[in-house]
Amino acid sequence: MSFYKRLAVVLAVVGVLGSFVMLFAMDVIKLDWITFMEIQPSYKPMESPRPVAARSIPIEGAAYIAGQGVPENPVVSDDFSVERGKLIFSVTCAHCHGAAGDGTGVIAGALVFPPANLTSELTQSKPDGSLFLTISNGIQGAGGQIHMPALNEDLSVRDRWDLVNYIRTLKATPAP
Ligand code: HEC
Repeated sequence: MSFYKRLAVVLAVVGVLGSFVMLFAMDVIKLDWITFMEIQPSYKPMESPRPVAARSIPIEGAAYIAGQGVPENPVVSDDFSVERGKLIFSVTCAHCHGAAGDGTGVIAGALVFPPANLTSELTQSKPDGSLFLTISNGIQGAGGQIHMPALNEDLSVRDRWDLVNYIRTLKATPAP
């Protein structure tokens, strides 16, 4: 056998063995070596969240337990709460709902759905807890598009009740 033939045979054998080893290295043939740290009964990134355990209380408080109806307002509507609500409103809500809460914010015209007039009798007739849940969960249109964004991740529970207390002070200015 010539030198080059022998070299070709050796390379072919090494190549076949090498590809076989790669099958394991690339997990084409997967062996669950218990020495691999990622193979363990743990919660992996991007896995869908596990269902909430029965009788557990959500981190945002009892207001989030499903099937309880609208929560009661636990924050007394004093000057401090209303002032806080007013400040948060001017930062987080006024660009849509307008500085006076009447639905005429600067970007109102650009939205897929006009912002609610919070001074209206319709909004003012709703219970505190219902406004709280709207601020927390937002409002989705029938087609799935977002009318109002959910703000529970941006605002603390206290912030949202302060906002509710502030909205209560927004009354339509009577027509002259
Ligand atoms: C991106 C614009 C946008 C922002 C920001 C926004 N809203 Fe809204 N909001 C809307 C729209 C639009 C609606 C009406 C949606 C509908 O009826 O389908 C609405 C509805 C509401 C309602 C329901 C009124 C009712 O009669 O049920 C409340 C309460 C409310 N917003 C409060 C707030 C508060 C408080 C903030 C700030 C923390 C806020 N919104 C921020 C757009 C916005």
